[in-house]
Amino acid sequence: MLRGQASGKVNVFLAAGAARADGFHELATIFQAVSLKERVDIETMPRYPVPRGHQLVRWLHVTGRDAERVPRDETNLAVRAVEAVAEAYYQRFPQLEYLPALHMYVHKGIPTAGGMAGGSADAAAALWLMDRLLGSFFGAGLGTAQLMRIAAQLGSDVPFVLRGGTALGTGRGERLERITAHGRFHWVFALAKKGLSTPAVFRELDRLRADAGSPRPAMDPGAVIHALSTGDPELLAPALHNDLEVAAFSLRPELADLKARASRLGALGAILCGSGPTMAFLCADELAAARVQEGLRGVAECAGVCAATAPAGGAELARGGLD
Ligand code: C5P
Repeated sequence: MLRGQASGKVNVFLAAGAARADGFHELATIFQAVSLKERVDIETMPRYPVPRGHQLVRWLHVTGRDAERVPRDETNLAVRAVEAVAEAYYQRFPQLEYLPALHMYVHKGIPTAGGMAGGSADAAAALWLMDRLLGSFFGAGLGTAQLMRIAAQLGSDVPFVLRGGTALGTGRGERLERITAHGRFHWVFALAKKGLSTPAVFRELDRLRADAGSPRPAMDPGAVIHALSTGDPELLAPALHNDLEVAAFSLRPELADLKARASRLGALGAILCGSGPTMAFLCADELAAARVQEGLRGVAECAGVCAATAPAGGAELARGGLD
């Protein structure tokens, strides 16, 4: 059994341009991985060979936070990640006819459909584990460049959660440049009762911008990049920016109330996580984070609260990685 893990993310800056011909929006975003993690384990069933073109993941077990909301079929992003890596090995070894069936276990620690890349982290961990598994069997892995290409095909956030750390993402968010970050930031996340679809939030942004008529000035990530390099949350808080926030607040007005409440509880800053609806609150230190977390508990708009630190790593072996 191979045991892996990957972290979720918060976007501390997100500027969205116009929709492109392929339907995606051009982004400039700064990701930071957070300490909430997904666990993914893969077990091979060598007595059950699966011919090329058939699904390798025969059993998918999902436990943990919001497990009931996760698809168990071939639409699951972690299943698609495994199949994509298998296909890359079939292309590399054209004579290969079978691979062993797999059991996959996913334990969720990141809120589902909240804008924190929980599904993308499952995919990144599965992709990375599968490459390790087949790479050790065939003598060499696919290599970073090919893994990143497969990750980008699976979703815009998958390349970042595969790598972790802190990075500037451009294109759909999949073209990454590492950013220097010091210190450890303390975050509290307020989870919403219902997920919010990413395409719906981007559509709402387009609608609001079309209604407003005049073009917006482009946002510059310079202040966020400087704040990250100092490790000072007092500098980062006022620089936090997410263009998608107005769209998510328009669809879910209660998120704006949550932002105001967290500021009264002493959070230094607040930002919508990716396309939401999770709200992220930046706190001065662990104690301040505990106070905000406590104050948000039981608030009607909020289905749950959790705390995490940033930055965190990318896809890697979990404790007891191999047995
Ligand atoms: O890449 P991902 O699967 O996360 O994207 C989901 C959807 O979110 C896309 O189909 C698109 O509608 C929207 N999206 C976008 N611009 C981006 C990323 C996502 O419009 N940069």
